[in-house]
Amino acid sequence: MAVAQEARTLPSAFASSAPPDAARRVMARLDALALVSQEEGRLTRTYLSEAHRQAVDLVSRWMREAGMSVRLDDAATLIGRYDPGSGEFAGRRTLLLGSHLDTVRDAGRYDGMLGVVTAIEAVRELAQEQQELPFAIEVLAFGDEEGVRFPRTLTGSRAAAGALAPDDLSACDADGITLADALRNFGCDPDRIAEATRKREDLIGYVELHIEQGRVLEKAGRALGLVSGISGAKRARFVLKGKVGHAGTTAMDDRRDALTCAAEMILAIERRASETDGLVMTVGTLELAGAGVNVVPGAVGFSLDLRAFDDAIREREYEAVVADCEAIAARRRVSIRAEVFYEETTVPCEQALVATLKKVLAQRGEDDALSLPSMAGHDGLAMARICPIAMLFVRCRDGASHSPDEHVDLEDIAASVEALTGFVRQLGHQFRAEA
Ligand code: GLV
Ligand code: MN
Ligand code: MN
Repeated sequence: MAVAQEARTLPSAFASSAPPDAARRVMARLDALALVSQEEGRLTRTYLSEAHRQAVDLVSRWMREAGMSVRLDDAATLIGRYDPGSGEFAGRRTLLLGSHLDTVRDAGRYDGMLGVVTAIEAVRELAQEQQELPFAIEVLAFGDEEGVRFPRTLTGSRAAAGALAPDDLSACDADGITLADALRNFGCDPDRIAEATRKREDLIGYVELHIEQGRVLEKAGRALGLVSGISGAKRARFVLKGKVGHAGTTAMDDRRDALTCAAEMILAIERRASETDGLVMTVGTLELAGAGVNVVPGAVGFSLDLRAFDDAIREREYEAVVADCEAIAARRRVSIRAEVFYEETTVPCEQALVATLKKVLAQRGEDDALSLPSMAGHDGLAMARICPIAMLFVRCRDGASHSPDEHVDLEDIAASVEALTGFVRQLGHQFRAEA
């Protein structure tokens, strides 16, 4: 069969291993991106900030150099497209690769950026080989995976998946700037954000390479691992109202102290998570209104981030936390309001894509590649609504992440470039063989 013969003439997934300078180029680009920050002396790059704009400009240049055409959609996702088609595969679909450019405050340089820069390197290599592919590739650089600036997250990937909520554009940052205005200031058109939604039938899938952010691979002595799925998450804001009082004159049994009430709730949340298998919960922000050294606090807000791979556990435990907190609030005569502002269910990675990644790892000599769940959130959570997803994890030292201590060895970056490039070649073989 002509197609099968053609498939045999293509190089195997690892016919040319990543050139020695590929990993160094990736590392140098990660170093360059680490300097693009909105804060002096540390890496912080939030969604739609000036630093985000500079990162978009820099990465656009690398995408163009790699042979891609570049555009920014109206959710500020940077999209580099490589389409080496000859017309043979009419109506060709698109394979999406990528990750995100935004960071937490005082971040490491690999979370997100590694997946974007490695994907660009993979495309660069395929373009240099003039590899004909039976599909187009797009490298997506999302802008809001971390959800730091607005009380929303995955805005870019939810827009791509057509999953924005009606009130998303009116969400405000700490300075009262709405998401719609921030998009406008960035040069995007929030009124046209629906046009960022991708057509399901055009997409093969979304594959993201990301640091593990844990120690499983490191402990097992593996550079790379397969991801079985991404844990869902629920985020809520709790608002407590007690009664402001004078610190000297309000008797202890007369107080309705919102802060001590929050403290008891936070400890109850920690205890419940520690005692429940498969559940992690974090109170990551605490706001105190009208605070003063001599004032009994009257109003407090705090956030809850709740994750469980099992959706039923997540639902059940959220209800239980609310009940725990309501009981504490009632005993302390404090009012409580809990508002969920983000929710994603757990998504499994798609078996066919995972099988291809597994094959590629086997070609690297890892017949028994490890498979692990991701307890961190990723853009794949949203992308799974519109196309199959898969992820490859890369070992990171001590599992450090969301901190400047993040570190990935150069050899593991080389393995990442090889694996991602090999994955695209392997998928190309499979498409041709099936055509
Ligand atoms: C993103 O890093 C998240 O898991 O919250
Ligand atoms: Mn990330
Ligand atoms: Mn992160």
